[in-house]
Amino acid sequence: MTDKNQPDLSTTAGRIEDLRNRYHEAVYASGEAAIAKQHSKGKKTARERIELLLDPGSFVEMDEFVRHRSTAFGMDKNRPYGDSVVTGIGTIGGRQVALFSQDFTIFGGSLGEAAGNKIIKIMDLAIATGVPLIGILDSGGARIQEGVIALGKYGEIFKRHTMASGVIPQLSIILGPAAGGAVYGPALTDFVIMVDKTSNMFVTGPDVIKTVTGEIVEMEALGGALAHNQTSGVAHYLASDEEDALDYARNLLSFLPENNLSESISYESNSSLEITDEDRLLNTIIPDSPNQPYSMIKVIESIVDDNQFLEVQPLFAPNIVIGFARIAGSSVAIIANQPQALAGTLNIDAAEKAARFVRFADAFSIPVLTLVDVPGYLPGADQEWAGVIRRGAKLIYAYAEATVPLVTIITRKAYGGAYIVMGSKQLGADINLAWPTAEIAVMGGEGAVNILFKDKLKAAEEAGEDMKKFRAQLAAEYTYNVASPYLAAERGELDGIIEPAATRVSVIKALAALKTKRAATPPKKHGNIHCNE
Ligand code: HXC
Repeated sequence: MTDKNQPDLSTTAGRIEDLRNRYHEAVYASGEAAIAKQHSKGKKTARERIELLLDPGSFVEMDEFVRHRSTAFGMDKNRPYGDSVVTGIGTIGGRQVALFSQDFTIFGGSLGEAAGNKIIKIMDLAIATGVPLIGILDSGGARIQEGVIALGKYGEIFKRHTMASGVIPQLSIILGPAAGGAVYGPALTDFVIMVDKTSNMFVTGPDVIKTVTGEIVEMEALGGALAHNQTSGVAHYLASDEEDALDYARNLLSFLPENNLSESISYESNSSLEITDEDRLLNTIIPDSPNQPYSMIKVIESIVDDNQFLEVQPLFAPNIVIGFARIAGSSVAIIANQPQALAGTLNIDAAEKAARFVRFADAFSIPVLTLVDVPGYLPGADQEWAGVIRRGAKLIYAYAEATVPLVTIITRKAYGGAYIVMGSKQLGADINLAWPTAEIAVMGGEGAVNILFKDKLKAAEEAGEDMKKFRAQLAAEYTYNVASPYLAAERGELDGIIEPAATRVSVIKALAALKTKRAATPPKKHGNIHCNE
């Protein structure tokens, strides 16, 4: 006998109705009240987020009828369709992606066997088909009721993130909590996007910290989006809201290839190969005084297509700038010292930030353009004790290991070890150019004068000379004679000296020449340094 309210499964129409009912149940498994609660926190549902992220109508859901096993502790009554994550495939800008979006309205987005298996399946599909993987995270972490099974699923996910690293781009968009060991999933991916005052990530939360160490710290200060964008360097973009986070992800993906074997992505471009009036503005950007800062972002914007530069991790280690742009239509990864922050010196954070970025670009065959204005490493006992030696080495390693086209432009200072590190010829850069304003030497003029001309300075002091003027004169002579870019060019350390106005055209030509570059590293299992900080 058939129930009057149930569709008749012996008919085609009945089976279609049954499917529609089940779909409705899957979509609203959490119930309208839970959705309203999610909205009241300024958060969207898992499916609303997918709608915003993907091209309209492109989403194909997988495993929407998956349910967790009924034997699990405390969860027998409620076995919602789809469990606590929505997974599937779709397109962004017409290109395929695979994604999962955790559903906080079901068991707090927590991850147990069923949700874990769904994520694992979509990760396997992303790896097999070579398309970017996007994770939207909003979860209370391992599902408490499922104990070791839940923990084990995290292990399987971490293993796949690691295997996928350098094979497909992986993005994590944190739109709620990411608690406990669960944070290591995003940490293993390439880019982490967080929303101001909504997302948080922490290994041990405020309560545990208070219990163990007595330290009192608020959730937002401990693991909020600002903390991770500015202080820890875990995150790469501080979004103002969920729409902004999803927009940034779409924009970021437009620069990235599908996988490590796919052709580099390029767009139509009508870049002029003649020096334009806009290019000539660069001739006046370097201030007369060597210690006066200028905006490196302006330099970058004037070189790249449509002046469009997508900065990555702008709030962390702002003394180095990293990001993507297009030059003559093709994606380029840009690394540049920023004289406006810490005078553009390198420190631990800057080295690790840039090293990881160079490695990402190299893994995905995106050419690297380096703009150098670096007075050296930031001096200080705290830097030494925090490991500027072992951690600073990562940037050398990243450049030296890279086989993608490397083009380096020295705009002003390139002093000491920092000169070598910042994409120097000796580390493997292909085309190195400098502006006439470049200064390349072991150290700056003032430091050099103090060491080289001790006797001369003493004699001048005794003779009652104007010491400030005398020092400046000696430093200028040193800079002119020793730090001159023409000296470097004379020895082939530079391939050429160009006027700033010619930078855009020179870079276009250099990248075109390097398109067919072939380079390889010696066969080995892997090196013994990791830039994945
Ligand atoms: C099962 C969970 C859950 C979890 C939340 N819920 N976290 N259910 N397992 N881990 C459920 C709640 O019981 C609640 O169910 C619903 O989700 C919403 O949670 P609330 O607490 O009401 O929401 P909110 O106040 O916004 O707080 C969110 C939260 C908090 C901060 C995430 O729920 C929380 O602290 N959860 C536990 C976090 C945690 O310690 N997780 C384990 C981390 S260790 P009802 O039915 O009431 O709606 C870990 C190890 C990973 O993840 C392993 C890696 C190797």
